[in-house]
Amino acid sequence: KYRKTIIAGNWKMHKTATETKRFAERLKGALPRSKRCSIVLCVPYVDIPAAVKLLKDSRVAVGAQNLHWEASGPFTGEISAAMLADLDVKYVIIGHSERRAHFGESDLIINKKIHAALAAGLRPILCVGEDLAQRQLGVTLEFITYQLKAALAGVSPEAMRRVVIAYEPIWAIGTGNTATPEQAGEVCAAIRGVLRKLYGARIARSTTIQYGGSMNETNAEALLHQEDVDGGLIGTAALDPEKFLQIIQTAN
Ligand code: G3H
Repeated sequence: KYRKTIIAGNWKMHKTATETKRFAERLKGALPRSKRCSIVLCVPYVDIPAAVKLLKDSRVAVGAQNLHWEASGPFTGEISAAMLADLDVKYVIIGHSERRAHFGESDLIINKKIHAALAAGLRPILCVGEDLAQRQLGVTLEFITYQLKAALAGVSPEAMRRVVIAYEPIWAIGTGNTATPEQAGEVCAAIRGVLRKLYGARIARSTTIQYGGSMNETNAEALLHQEDVDGGLIGTAALDPEKFLQIIQTAN
């Protein structure tokens, strides 16, 4: 493959700093030595210092789950890209369906966030994915093409090399109802096709495209076996160090 496999955990709103320490110690102590896949742990803001400190000399990079698009200003409760970069955060999830649904994030906001992350040297993990109604209507690929074009508007080919895409069908998130490997592979291939049109073949074939949505230690192997599935964005199974380690082993 021309691209890196990335196994990323997304803790969502789970774990205190104390629990983060316990998890990171266990993870660090059991990581496989060979370094075939990259590993990222996206933790709540307040857990970032503990995660960075404990995972410092390991192969695990720390990520955030959100940021604000402005560099600074009167935005009470918000966190900027520069604040994250200063803490040694390397990745940031942008456009997760939960943020789109519960916090009203529009495609325009997501586009601004992508630019803010890139300007600060962070690697965005851009999430796209259809809901059940869209899948049943047969508009999945059109919808995802729209999401990609909107989120990536104005992103240069040079900057695109730092963007990771995560395909997360909404109907598969937190439901235990994972996409079949064929469904995941089909949409990830289509995403690569969109990137080819927007950025050319070279960038398309080197972009990491993850699958997310009830990926776990049992189904990871078949999903990762798909040619265009280059990793996972894992929610529930990443809360348990043993399950997360098993997925890493599968990708390694
Ligand atoms: O970002 C992670 C996804 O939303 C997947 O969550 O593994 O709990 O389905 P899940």
